[in-house]
Amino acid sequence: MKKFAALALAGCMAVSLAACGGSASTSTAASESTAPAESTSAAESAAESAAESVTEATQGGKVGVCIYKFDDAFMTTYRNALQEILEGKGYEVTIVDGNNDQAKQNEQINTFITQGVDALIINPVMTSAADQIISTVKGADVPTVLINREPTADQMSAYDKLVYVGCDAAQSGTFQGELILDTENKGDINGDGKITYIMCKGDPENIDAQYRTEYSIKALTDAGKEVECLYEYLDNWDQTTAQQDVANALSQYGDKIEVVFCNNDAMALGALQSIQQAGRTVGKDVYLVGVDALVEAVQNVVDGNMTGTVLNDDVGQATKAAEATKLFVEGKDVEKYYWVDYVKVTKDNASQYLKED
Ligand code: GAL
Repeated sequence: MKKFAALALAGCMAVSLAACGGSASTSTAASESTAPAESTSAAESAAESAAESVTEATQGGKVGVCIYKFDDAFMTTYRNALQEILEGKGYEVTIVDGNNDQAKQNEQINTFITQGVDALIINPVMTSAADQIISTVKGADVPTVLINREPTADQMSAYDKLVYVGCDAAQSGTFQGELILDTENKGDINGDGKITYIMCKGDPENIDAQYRTEYSIKALTDAGKEVECLYEYLDNWDQTTAQQDVANALSQYGDKIEVVFCNNDAMALGALQSIQQAGRTVGKDVYLVGVDALVEAVQNVVDGNMTGTVLNDDVGQATKAAEATKLFVEGKDVEKYYWVDYVKVTKDNASQYLKED
């Protein structure tokens, strides 16, 4: 890694939590992600609705699925795949919406336990709540598949009936960097010898957001490129927030922005709206990459409105999660981790990922 590149990266990373540019981000999602409501009414009603919807067990057994929030484009495709695959295996499946509220999700987990589910699949609201979740499911001796938010190795080893299904977040970041390196001018549109970018980041607690932010740029600096980070926006995976932030970025930094990195496709779609509103053309004036391969993003890759995205294989992960669940329910041996690969999606291969979400 060249020294200046390493320094640029270090400078950017040192302040990455605060954002490399320094000012506060607009963030509708910030209010959403504030402390979970203490109110028991939301939790109680969640518990009641979960209770009502779990009826008599089918022959396959009951599986409770906790999703951090339904209002998340990628987790919607993931949960739909989970439902279909688990039902296909003969399980009675109940999926509940944590509404981005850890207190509510804790109640939902307790309700499932009281109802005697045979296994749980949990997408934690907060990565930092993993200890508590693991101690709850361990105390109740319910086999559990954690998905989407990778806990630490120590947390994973705390309970023998616990597995994690997910992807290597660093790989998705590396692939985003490579998508830029594969462009005609390797991301240096204005030919000044450096790649100048902004970054739209997901939930700062989420390792996917942290590693995509880090490894997308590392791929550039590892290739010997100089980089300049204009600003890192905290957009919490959210399309509207990213749209606003990228609109502001475009008016503030103008042509300086050569690459818009987005930790996911929802934010990339928001960024694209602002890029187009500003009269700029992706592939000519600016490059744009996301992660997830949402159908709308893949269509934009096909149409040349996005430089590329990275497939976050919802069906692959749902399949592994369902397989691990089945092994648990049948009392068979499970692995501790099940990994699913990311795949780079470019104009050349995008059409094969144009499945319906
Ligand atoms: C990521 C995905 C994001 C968001 C997030 C939720 O893997 O890329 O779009 O769904 O999970 O934790």
